[in-house]
Amino acid sequence: MASVIVRPAGWIPERHVTPESVFWNRRRVVKSLGLAGLSGLVAGVGVGRVGGAPAPSAAGPYAKGYPHARAAGFDPGWSLTDEAVASKYNNFYEFTLSKDVYKRVAKFETAPWKLEVGGLVESPLTLDAAELIDGMALEERVYRFRCVEAWAMIVPWTGFPLAKLVERVKPKPEARFVRFVTAAKRDEMPGIAENPEYPWPYFEGLRLDEALHPLTMVVTGVYGKPLPRQFGAPIRVVVPWKYGYKSPKSIVKIEFVANQPKTFWETLIPREYPFESNVDPGVPHPRWSQATERMIDTGDRVKTKKYNGYAEQVARLYPSA
Ligand code: MTE
Repeated sequence: MASVIVRPAGWIPERHVTPESVFWNRRRVVKSLGLAGLSGLVAGVGVGRVGGAPAPSAAGPYAKGYPHARAAGFDPGWSLTDEAVASKYNNFYEFTLSKDVYKRVAKFETAPWKLEVGGLVESPLTLDAAELIDGMALEERVYRFRCVEAWAMIVPWTGFPLAKLVERVKPKPEARFVRFVTAAKRDEMPGIAENPEYPWPYFEGLRLDEALHPLTMVVTGVYGKPLPRQFGAPIRVVVPWKYGYKSPKSIVKIEFVANQPKTFWETLIPREYPFESNVDPGVPHPRWSQATERMIDTGDRVKTKKYNGYAEQVARLYPSA
């Protein structure tokens, strides 16, 4: 990864600062290699803090009851990442390959939002996200979040355990994995047409025991508000001990399946982004170290922890690790 570069307010994406010929030549090289790895296009750019006011949230019908109370046991006393920085530093390739997703989400309609939960289950569900959210007890939890690109943040997510939704649909005994499919709204998400080489829609997966783990959360809000669009409104999943790409945003379908599903990044570059992808400082990414991470607001470099600091809760899921 690049060293820390603090971007001033008004930072502009790489394609606007890199001489066009270099930019397009690199895209050709990347294409001929197969594809840009996650962060491949931004690897040399550095990263930065963009302060100012937080980007507006797509509250709509999801605003009820905010802020929700912080759950006992999920208030570890860590300093939260500056909201204004976190909400302007996102990965959401359906909009752009750069971090300033918030600038491109204005057309993204997040209500109404149809969600299907099905596959190998006794009681499949098709419902609107607002209906699902209204029927769940929401709580706030402070989690560490670690991207494979070696940046990290500490944020208060609002939502509910994915296990609560799994209970409602009652998986059949043969269901061993969960597959998530996210929205691909071409008219509202400019990154899809701009990057036709990616296998849209974005899709991810977990083992059923990972999905049922009490830390795995369906997230509907952040920083005491309904999710802003760039964070994956109206509904996403967060799995805090795995690299961030295992946390799919703007989900439209949750499917229970018998066999390990392919994921978006694994389909592209299996060697770099395997299915399991637990945070592990001892396993370098093939192109950079994972020993440390950079906090996106302060720029502080801190040591990465195995399972992103959640070893006590999750190590039992991986007895041979
Ligand atoms: N979900 C979708 N639909 N599209 C994406 O590009 N990027 C992933 C993950 N979920 C991504 C996604 C990656 S690489 C990361 S690090 C996290 O979202 C970033 O979450 P954040 O932007 O809310 O911090």
